[in-house]
Amino acid sequence: MATTRIPHPHTDEWYDNLAKIQIGYYYPWTSVKSEGNGEDAYMHLVKQHLTPDSIVLDVGCGHGDVALELAELCKKIIAYDRVTSYIELAKRNAQEKAIENVEFLCHDAKDLMHEQITLPAEDNSIDVIIARRGPLHWLEDARRVGHPGTVMIQLCPMEEPIPAWSNKLPHVMHYENCGRYTGAGSIHQSVENRLNQNGFMLHSGWGFDVPEIFDQPEELYKVLTWGLPADEIPAYEDVEHRLLSIFEHHAEAAGIILRHCRYLWKANII
Ligand SMILES: C[S@@+](CC[C@H](N)C(=O)[O-])C[C@H]1O[C@@H](n2cnc3c(N)ncnc32)[C@H](O)[C@@H]1O
Repeated sequence: MATTRIPHPHTDEWYDNLAKIQIGYYYPWTSVKSEGNGEDAYMHLVKQHLTPDSIVLDVGCGHGDVALELAELCKKIIAYDRVTSYIELAKRNAQEKAIENVEFLCHDAKDLMHEQITLPAEDNSIDVIIARRGPLHWLEDARRVGHPGTVMIQLCPMEEPIPAWSNKLPHVMHYENCGRYTGAGSIHQSVENRLNQNGFMLHSGWGFDVPEIFDQPEELYKVLTWGLPADEIPAYEDVEHRLLSIFEHHAEAAGIILRHCRYLWKANII
C-alpha cells in the first residue's frame, strides 16, 4: 500500500481531499442518534433567534443544507465556504428549491497574505451569526459585521472517547485518525478563550453526549475511514473479519455504540 501522508482532520487539506471523495459535506454513514442530541438542539436554538427581518451569516456552510432549511424564517442569509464544489452544489440546490434569499459565496475567511480574518459581509449588517460544526476563527471579524444585539450561535464537535476496540483494527483505521475525531481537548475552554480574546463573553454553553448506534459493520467501516486518502484505506473485505469480531465482542443489543458529543454555545455582541 502507498504511503500517502494522512491529512489532519478538518484542515484545509483534509476538506479538499474530502471534496474529491464525496459530493458535498455530509456524513456518509447510516446510524441512529439518540434524542436530545446537539445537532437537533442547535437547529432548535437557531430557529428561536430568527425573525422575518433577520439577516444571517452562516459560517463554513458546507453545501448549504442549514441555510436552505432556515431561509423561510428570515429575510436573508449570506452563507459562505472556501470549498468551491460545496458552494456550486448549494447554489444548484437553492435553484431547485426556488429559494432566492440565500446568497452562497465561495470565500476563504482566512486571508493568509494579510494574516487576518475577513467575513464576507458589510460592517454592522448581520443580526445572527451561525456556524454548525465549523471553525472558530470567524470570531475575529464578528464585531465588525455585527452590531449591538447580534447573536452568535455555534455547534462544535466535542472530543469523543476512543472506543476500547479501536486498536483491534489496522492503525490507519484507529478512531483518532477518522474525520469524526476532533482531538480538540476541552472545547468549552477553547471557545471561552476565543470569545474573551475577541472581547466577547459567553452567554450560555451546553454539552451533549448521547449514544449513536451502528447496527451494521459496513456503516462502522464508513465512519472509521471517513476522509482518509483512498489509497490509504484497507478494502472492506480485508477488514470485515475484524469488524465482525468487534460486533461479536463489543456490540450491545442494538449494535455498536459510539458517543455523539457536541458543545453548543451562544454569545451576544453588546
Ligand atoms: C465541519 S464542516 C461543516 C459544514 C456545514 N456547516 C455543515 O454543518 O454541514 C466545516 C466547513 O467549514 C469550512 N471552512 C473551514 N475553514 C474555512 C475558511 N477559512 N473559510 C471558509 N470556510 C471554511 C470547510 O470548508 C467546511 O465546509
